[in-house]
Amino acid sequence: MKIGFIGLGIMGSRMAGNLQKHGYTLVIHNRTRHKAGPLLAGDARWAASPADAASEVEILFTMLAHPEAVEEAALGKDGFLSRLAQGSLWVDCSTVNPSFSKRMAEESQARGLHFLGAPVTGSKDAAAGGKLVFWVGGDAVDLEKCRRLLECMGNKIVHTGGKGTGASLKIVVNQLLGATMAAFAETLALGESLGLARDLLLGILLNTPAAAPFLAGKRERIESGNFEDADFPLQWLQKDLHLAAVSAYENGAAMPLTNVAKEIYRLAIRDGKGEKDFSAICGYLGEDRVFHTTRETHS
Ligand SMILES: NC(=O)c1ccc[n+]([C@@H]2O[C@H](COP(=O)([O-])OP(=O)(O)OC[C@H]3O[C@@H](n4cnc5c(N)ncnc54)[C@H](OP(=O)(O)O)[C@@H]3O)[C@@H](O)[C@H]2O)c1
Repeated sequence: MKIGFIGLGIMGSRMAGNLQKHGYTLVIHNRTRHKAGPLLAGDARWAASPADAASEVEILFTMLAHPEAVEEAALGKDGFLSRLAQGSLWVDCSTVNPSFSKRMAEESQARGLHFLGAPVTGSKDAAAGGKLVFWVGGDAVDLEKCRRLLECMGNKIVHTGGKGTGASLKIVVNQLLGATMAAFAETLALGESLGLARDLLLGILLNTPAAAPFLAGKRERIESGNFEDADFPLQWLQKDLHLAAVSAYENGAAMPLTNVAKEIYRLAIRDGKGEKDFSAICGYLGEDRVFHTTRETHS
């Protein structure tokens, strides 16, 4: 069975690599071709467009940056939806908003195709090690068709319910991730403004129940100030907070904290931090010396 894979960024390249390691023959496409190099060194076939990637596969995965990229790949001029054979399965692993995921499910159904929204939790290392968590929204029968493929890429597969529910769960998780990271960045900035050393703060804070467990994994980056070679680019976390805000608007939830956090990340993107790891928000708020300057001026 041939498998299609579109989107070979940080996550997609590693996920597709695991499918290849397990012996699956891949047909691959990415906007930027050079990222396909390692997979093409194996037995993967390069597809010149999303439509080309769809022409000979029964199951097609997408792992793209945002809903706009997914929509272009699926329904754009060279989109794959009209090229997949009837009865094929599209598994979208990209982080998108629930209403978009439902719409893609409907577009698929209208063409006699099956669709699962299966976003993931876990970053670059989990993707490389086949240890992602999949949140799968759609028909249980469709999940069974691709379960063994998901098991090559992840070690926990959760059927969240019908269409759009995988995206719902993923957006909820990342809303908490983004708001928590921003809150922690402010905590560090406050502590340092009070004269507390960063390593002392990290040593204490990361061992309090108030700190989320994922923050310990960011300690080295925060201490060294090295946010290059992102695990999860800051610009995609900001995108996820935006998708959370859109979802809240559509469903009548109020998210004042999240919207403020979202704009903090937007300022960081404006100041050139978009492609850095999202923990760069600590460096960003920590570098802000306005408070110190004001205090020094008045002392
Ligand atoms: N990194 C993580 O820790 C993590 C964890 C869970 C979920 N996710 C989600 O996984 C998805 C992929 O993220 P990533 O970390 O792999 O990011 P990435 O390295 O930036 O990869 C993004 C992918 O989307 C493609 N893309 C971006 N804009 C496009 C456009 N306008 N048209 C066509 N293709 C476009 C990129 O193509 P090019 O290579 O040509 O740029 C690349 O294949 C996102 O939805 C993200 O939120 C990421």
